[in-house]
Amino acid sequence: MTAPRAGSQEDFMESSDAPVALVTGGTSGIGLATARLLSERGHRVAVCGRDQRRLDRAARELPGVHAVRADLSTWEAAAAAVAEVVSAFGRLDVLVTAHGAVGEPGPVAELPAAAWDHVLGTNLIGPIATTVAAVPALRRTRGAVVHVGSISAIQATPQTAPYGVSKAGLVAFTKHAAADLAEFGIRVNAVLPGWVRTPPAIAYFEQIGRPEGPRDGNFLGRVAEPAEIAEVIAFLASRKASFITGEAVVADGGEWIKMSDPE
Ligand SMILES: NC(=O)c1ccc[n+]([C@@H]2O[C@H](COP(=O)([O-])OP(=O)(O)OC[C@H]3O[C@@H](n4cnc5c(N)ncnc54)[C@H](OP(=O)(O)O)[C@@H]3O)[C@@H](O)[C@H]2O)c1
Repeated sequence: MTAPRAGSQEDFMESSDAPVALVTGGTSGIGLATARLLSERGHRVAVCGRDQRRLDRAARELPGVHAVRADLSTWEAAAAAVAEVVSAFGRLDVLVTAHGAVGEPGPVAELPAAAWDHVLGTNLIGPIATTVAAVPALRRTRGAVVHVGSISAIQATPQTAPYGVSKAGLVAFTKHAAADLAEFGIRVNAVLPGWVRTPPAIAYFEQIGRPEGPRDGNFLGRVAEPAEIAEVIAFLASRKASFITGEAVVADGGEWIKMSDPE
């Protein structure tokens, strides 16, 4: 086991020895909350996204953040983004893949190939390619990877097959990567959230006439706040989770295990 680091998290603040975290999708929702939390806990943080205005906003909100504009749905773009971060900071300790796309809804029999390519490229190839590109740097720090999956990896709803398949594939990748990267001291885990109050989820809640989000789908009677998921991610990324690898932690208020009430 890797020895825990000496010193408090505050000791790392503003230090060139401070650990470095790359949060893909760190310009919104769960990724932004994670970037904020890791920054508060002493990491130097880089975020990735496609939209320049969101990147600029994240840079204003998180002083010192390194914002990288990239579409992480291809191997080439993922490798270039990781190389830019390692070049900027000289090291990488934590990779969080929090970018993702839900895709257009549609039944399996009718979905066009492009719908599959878009969602699998973004949600599965992107995290795989980013992880592979990060391995040399993570080996040097004996770092950690946390992927943001979804409970859609383990349960099905109509008309969302590419999303569920991408997230199930991400869980499988998490386990295989954990198996292959353990010899380098790299841990790989995933968090599987239920509903989280982020911009795309809020838009959906408003569309279905429930702006507060569904209250009856889990035991806790509410949706999660992004900061609650960020806490799970930050724990898995930290040395407090030094004996956890290959795990997919469900954070859904009990939605996955809740039986529907009898009529
Ligand atoms: N919200 C929920 O209820 C919920 C539940 C379970 C799982 N999740 C998962 O949590 C993750 C974050 O979702 P969220 O709700 O926080 O969404 P969000 O607020 O829309 O954030 C998504 C982030 O990903 C970036 N992104 C999207 N496609 C990208 C691409 N091809 N390349 C690079 N960056 C890209 C976005 O920036 P740009 O658009 O500027 O690229 C943004 O920063 C996703 O993987 C999602 O599947 C969410």
